Amino acid sequence: MTKKKTAKQSEVVMTEMVLPNDTNTLHNLMGGKLMHWMDIVAAIAAQKHSNRIVVTASADSISFKHPIALGNVVTLKAQVTRAFNSSMEVFIEVWAEDIPANKKIQTHRAFFTFVAVDQNGRPIEVPEVLPETPDEIELYEGALRRRQLRLVLAKRMDPKDAVELKSIFNIEEPKDKK
Ligand SMILES: CC(C)(COP(=O)(O)OP(=O)(O)OC[C@H]1O[C@@H](n2cnc3c(N)ncnc32)[C@H](O)[C@@H]1OP(=O)(O)O)[C@@H](O)C(=O)NCCC(=O)NCCS
Repeated sequence: MTKKKTAKQSEVVMTEMVLPNDTNTLHNLMGGKLMHWMDIVAAIAAQKHSNRIVVTASADSISFKHPIALGNVVTLKAQVTRAFNSSMEVFIEVWAEDIPANKKIQTHRAFFTFVAVDQNGRPIEVPEVLPETPDEIELYEGALRRRQLRLVLAKRMDPKDAVELKSIFNIEEPKDKK
């Protein structure tokens, strides 16, 4: 197995500007355009971690806290939180900046999952993540719970096997029938 890589090694920061073609009738950035940018920044982070071709397996927990206005500068930061076998969870944060007004706010957060694949599109093993800062450790620790939740929702995991979710959903062990 390849040597562990720090979470920081996968960090990618991307800057864009909201142009008229990117906006809805309220002159705010369209959600689909932002998700496109999120997909790109997160895919680059997953590629940096794995040094492989990656494909998007899921996009979840996307929160749209504030609209982003025409002319704003958008900064997207992505970092791999944890890697499993072939999959990697990537955390994305988005800020919108009105430079003339000197205002910058965080507008969005999301978790995307990427799978590293070989030349034939088959999943391939990736290095483990070594979290270093308190924030990276918190994200690393929560990643297993989020993975189990998304795999249960995608019907790829039996809820009974989602041990990390038991305390959240109060899933009880089956009692012995006597
Ligand atoms: C993602 C993909 C490679 C998984 O292939 P698969 O044959 O189902 O492979 P497996 O069942 O072995 O799963 C491989 C990994 O994907 C993960 N995965 C599969 N579906 C997932 C989902 N919906 N959410 C999160 N992870 C998922 C599995 O948990 C597994 O992770 P692990 O290896 O770390 O344990 C395959 O479904 C695919 O190619 N999908 C299309 C991807 C695509 O076109 N994306 C958009 C364009 S980039």
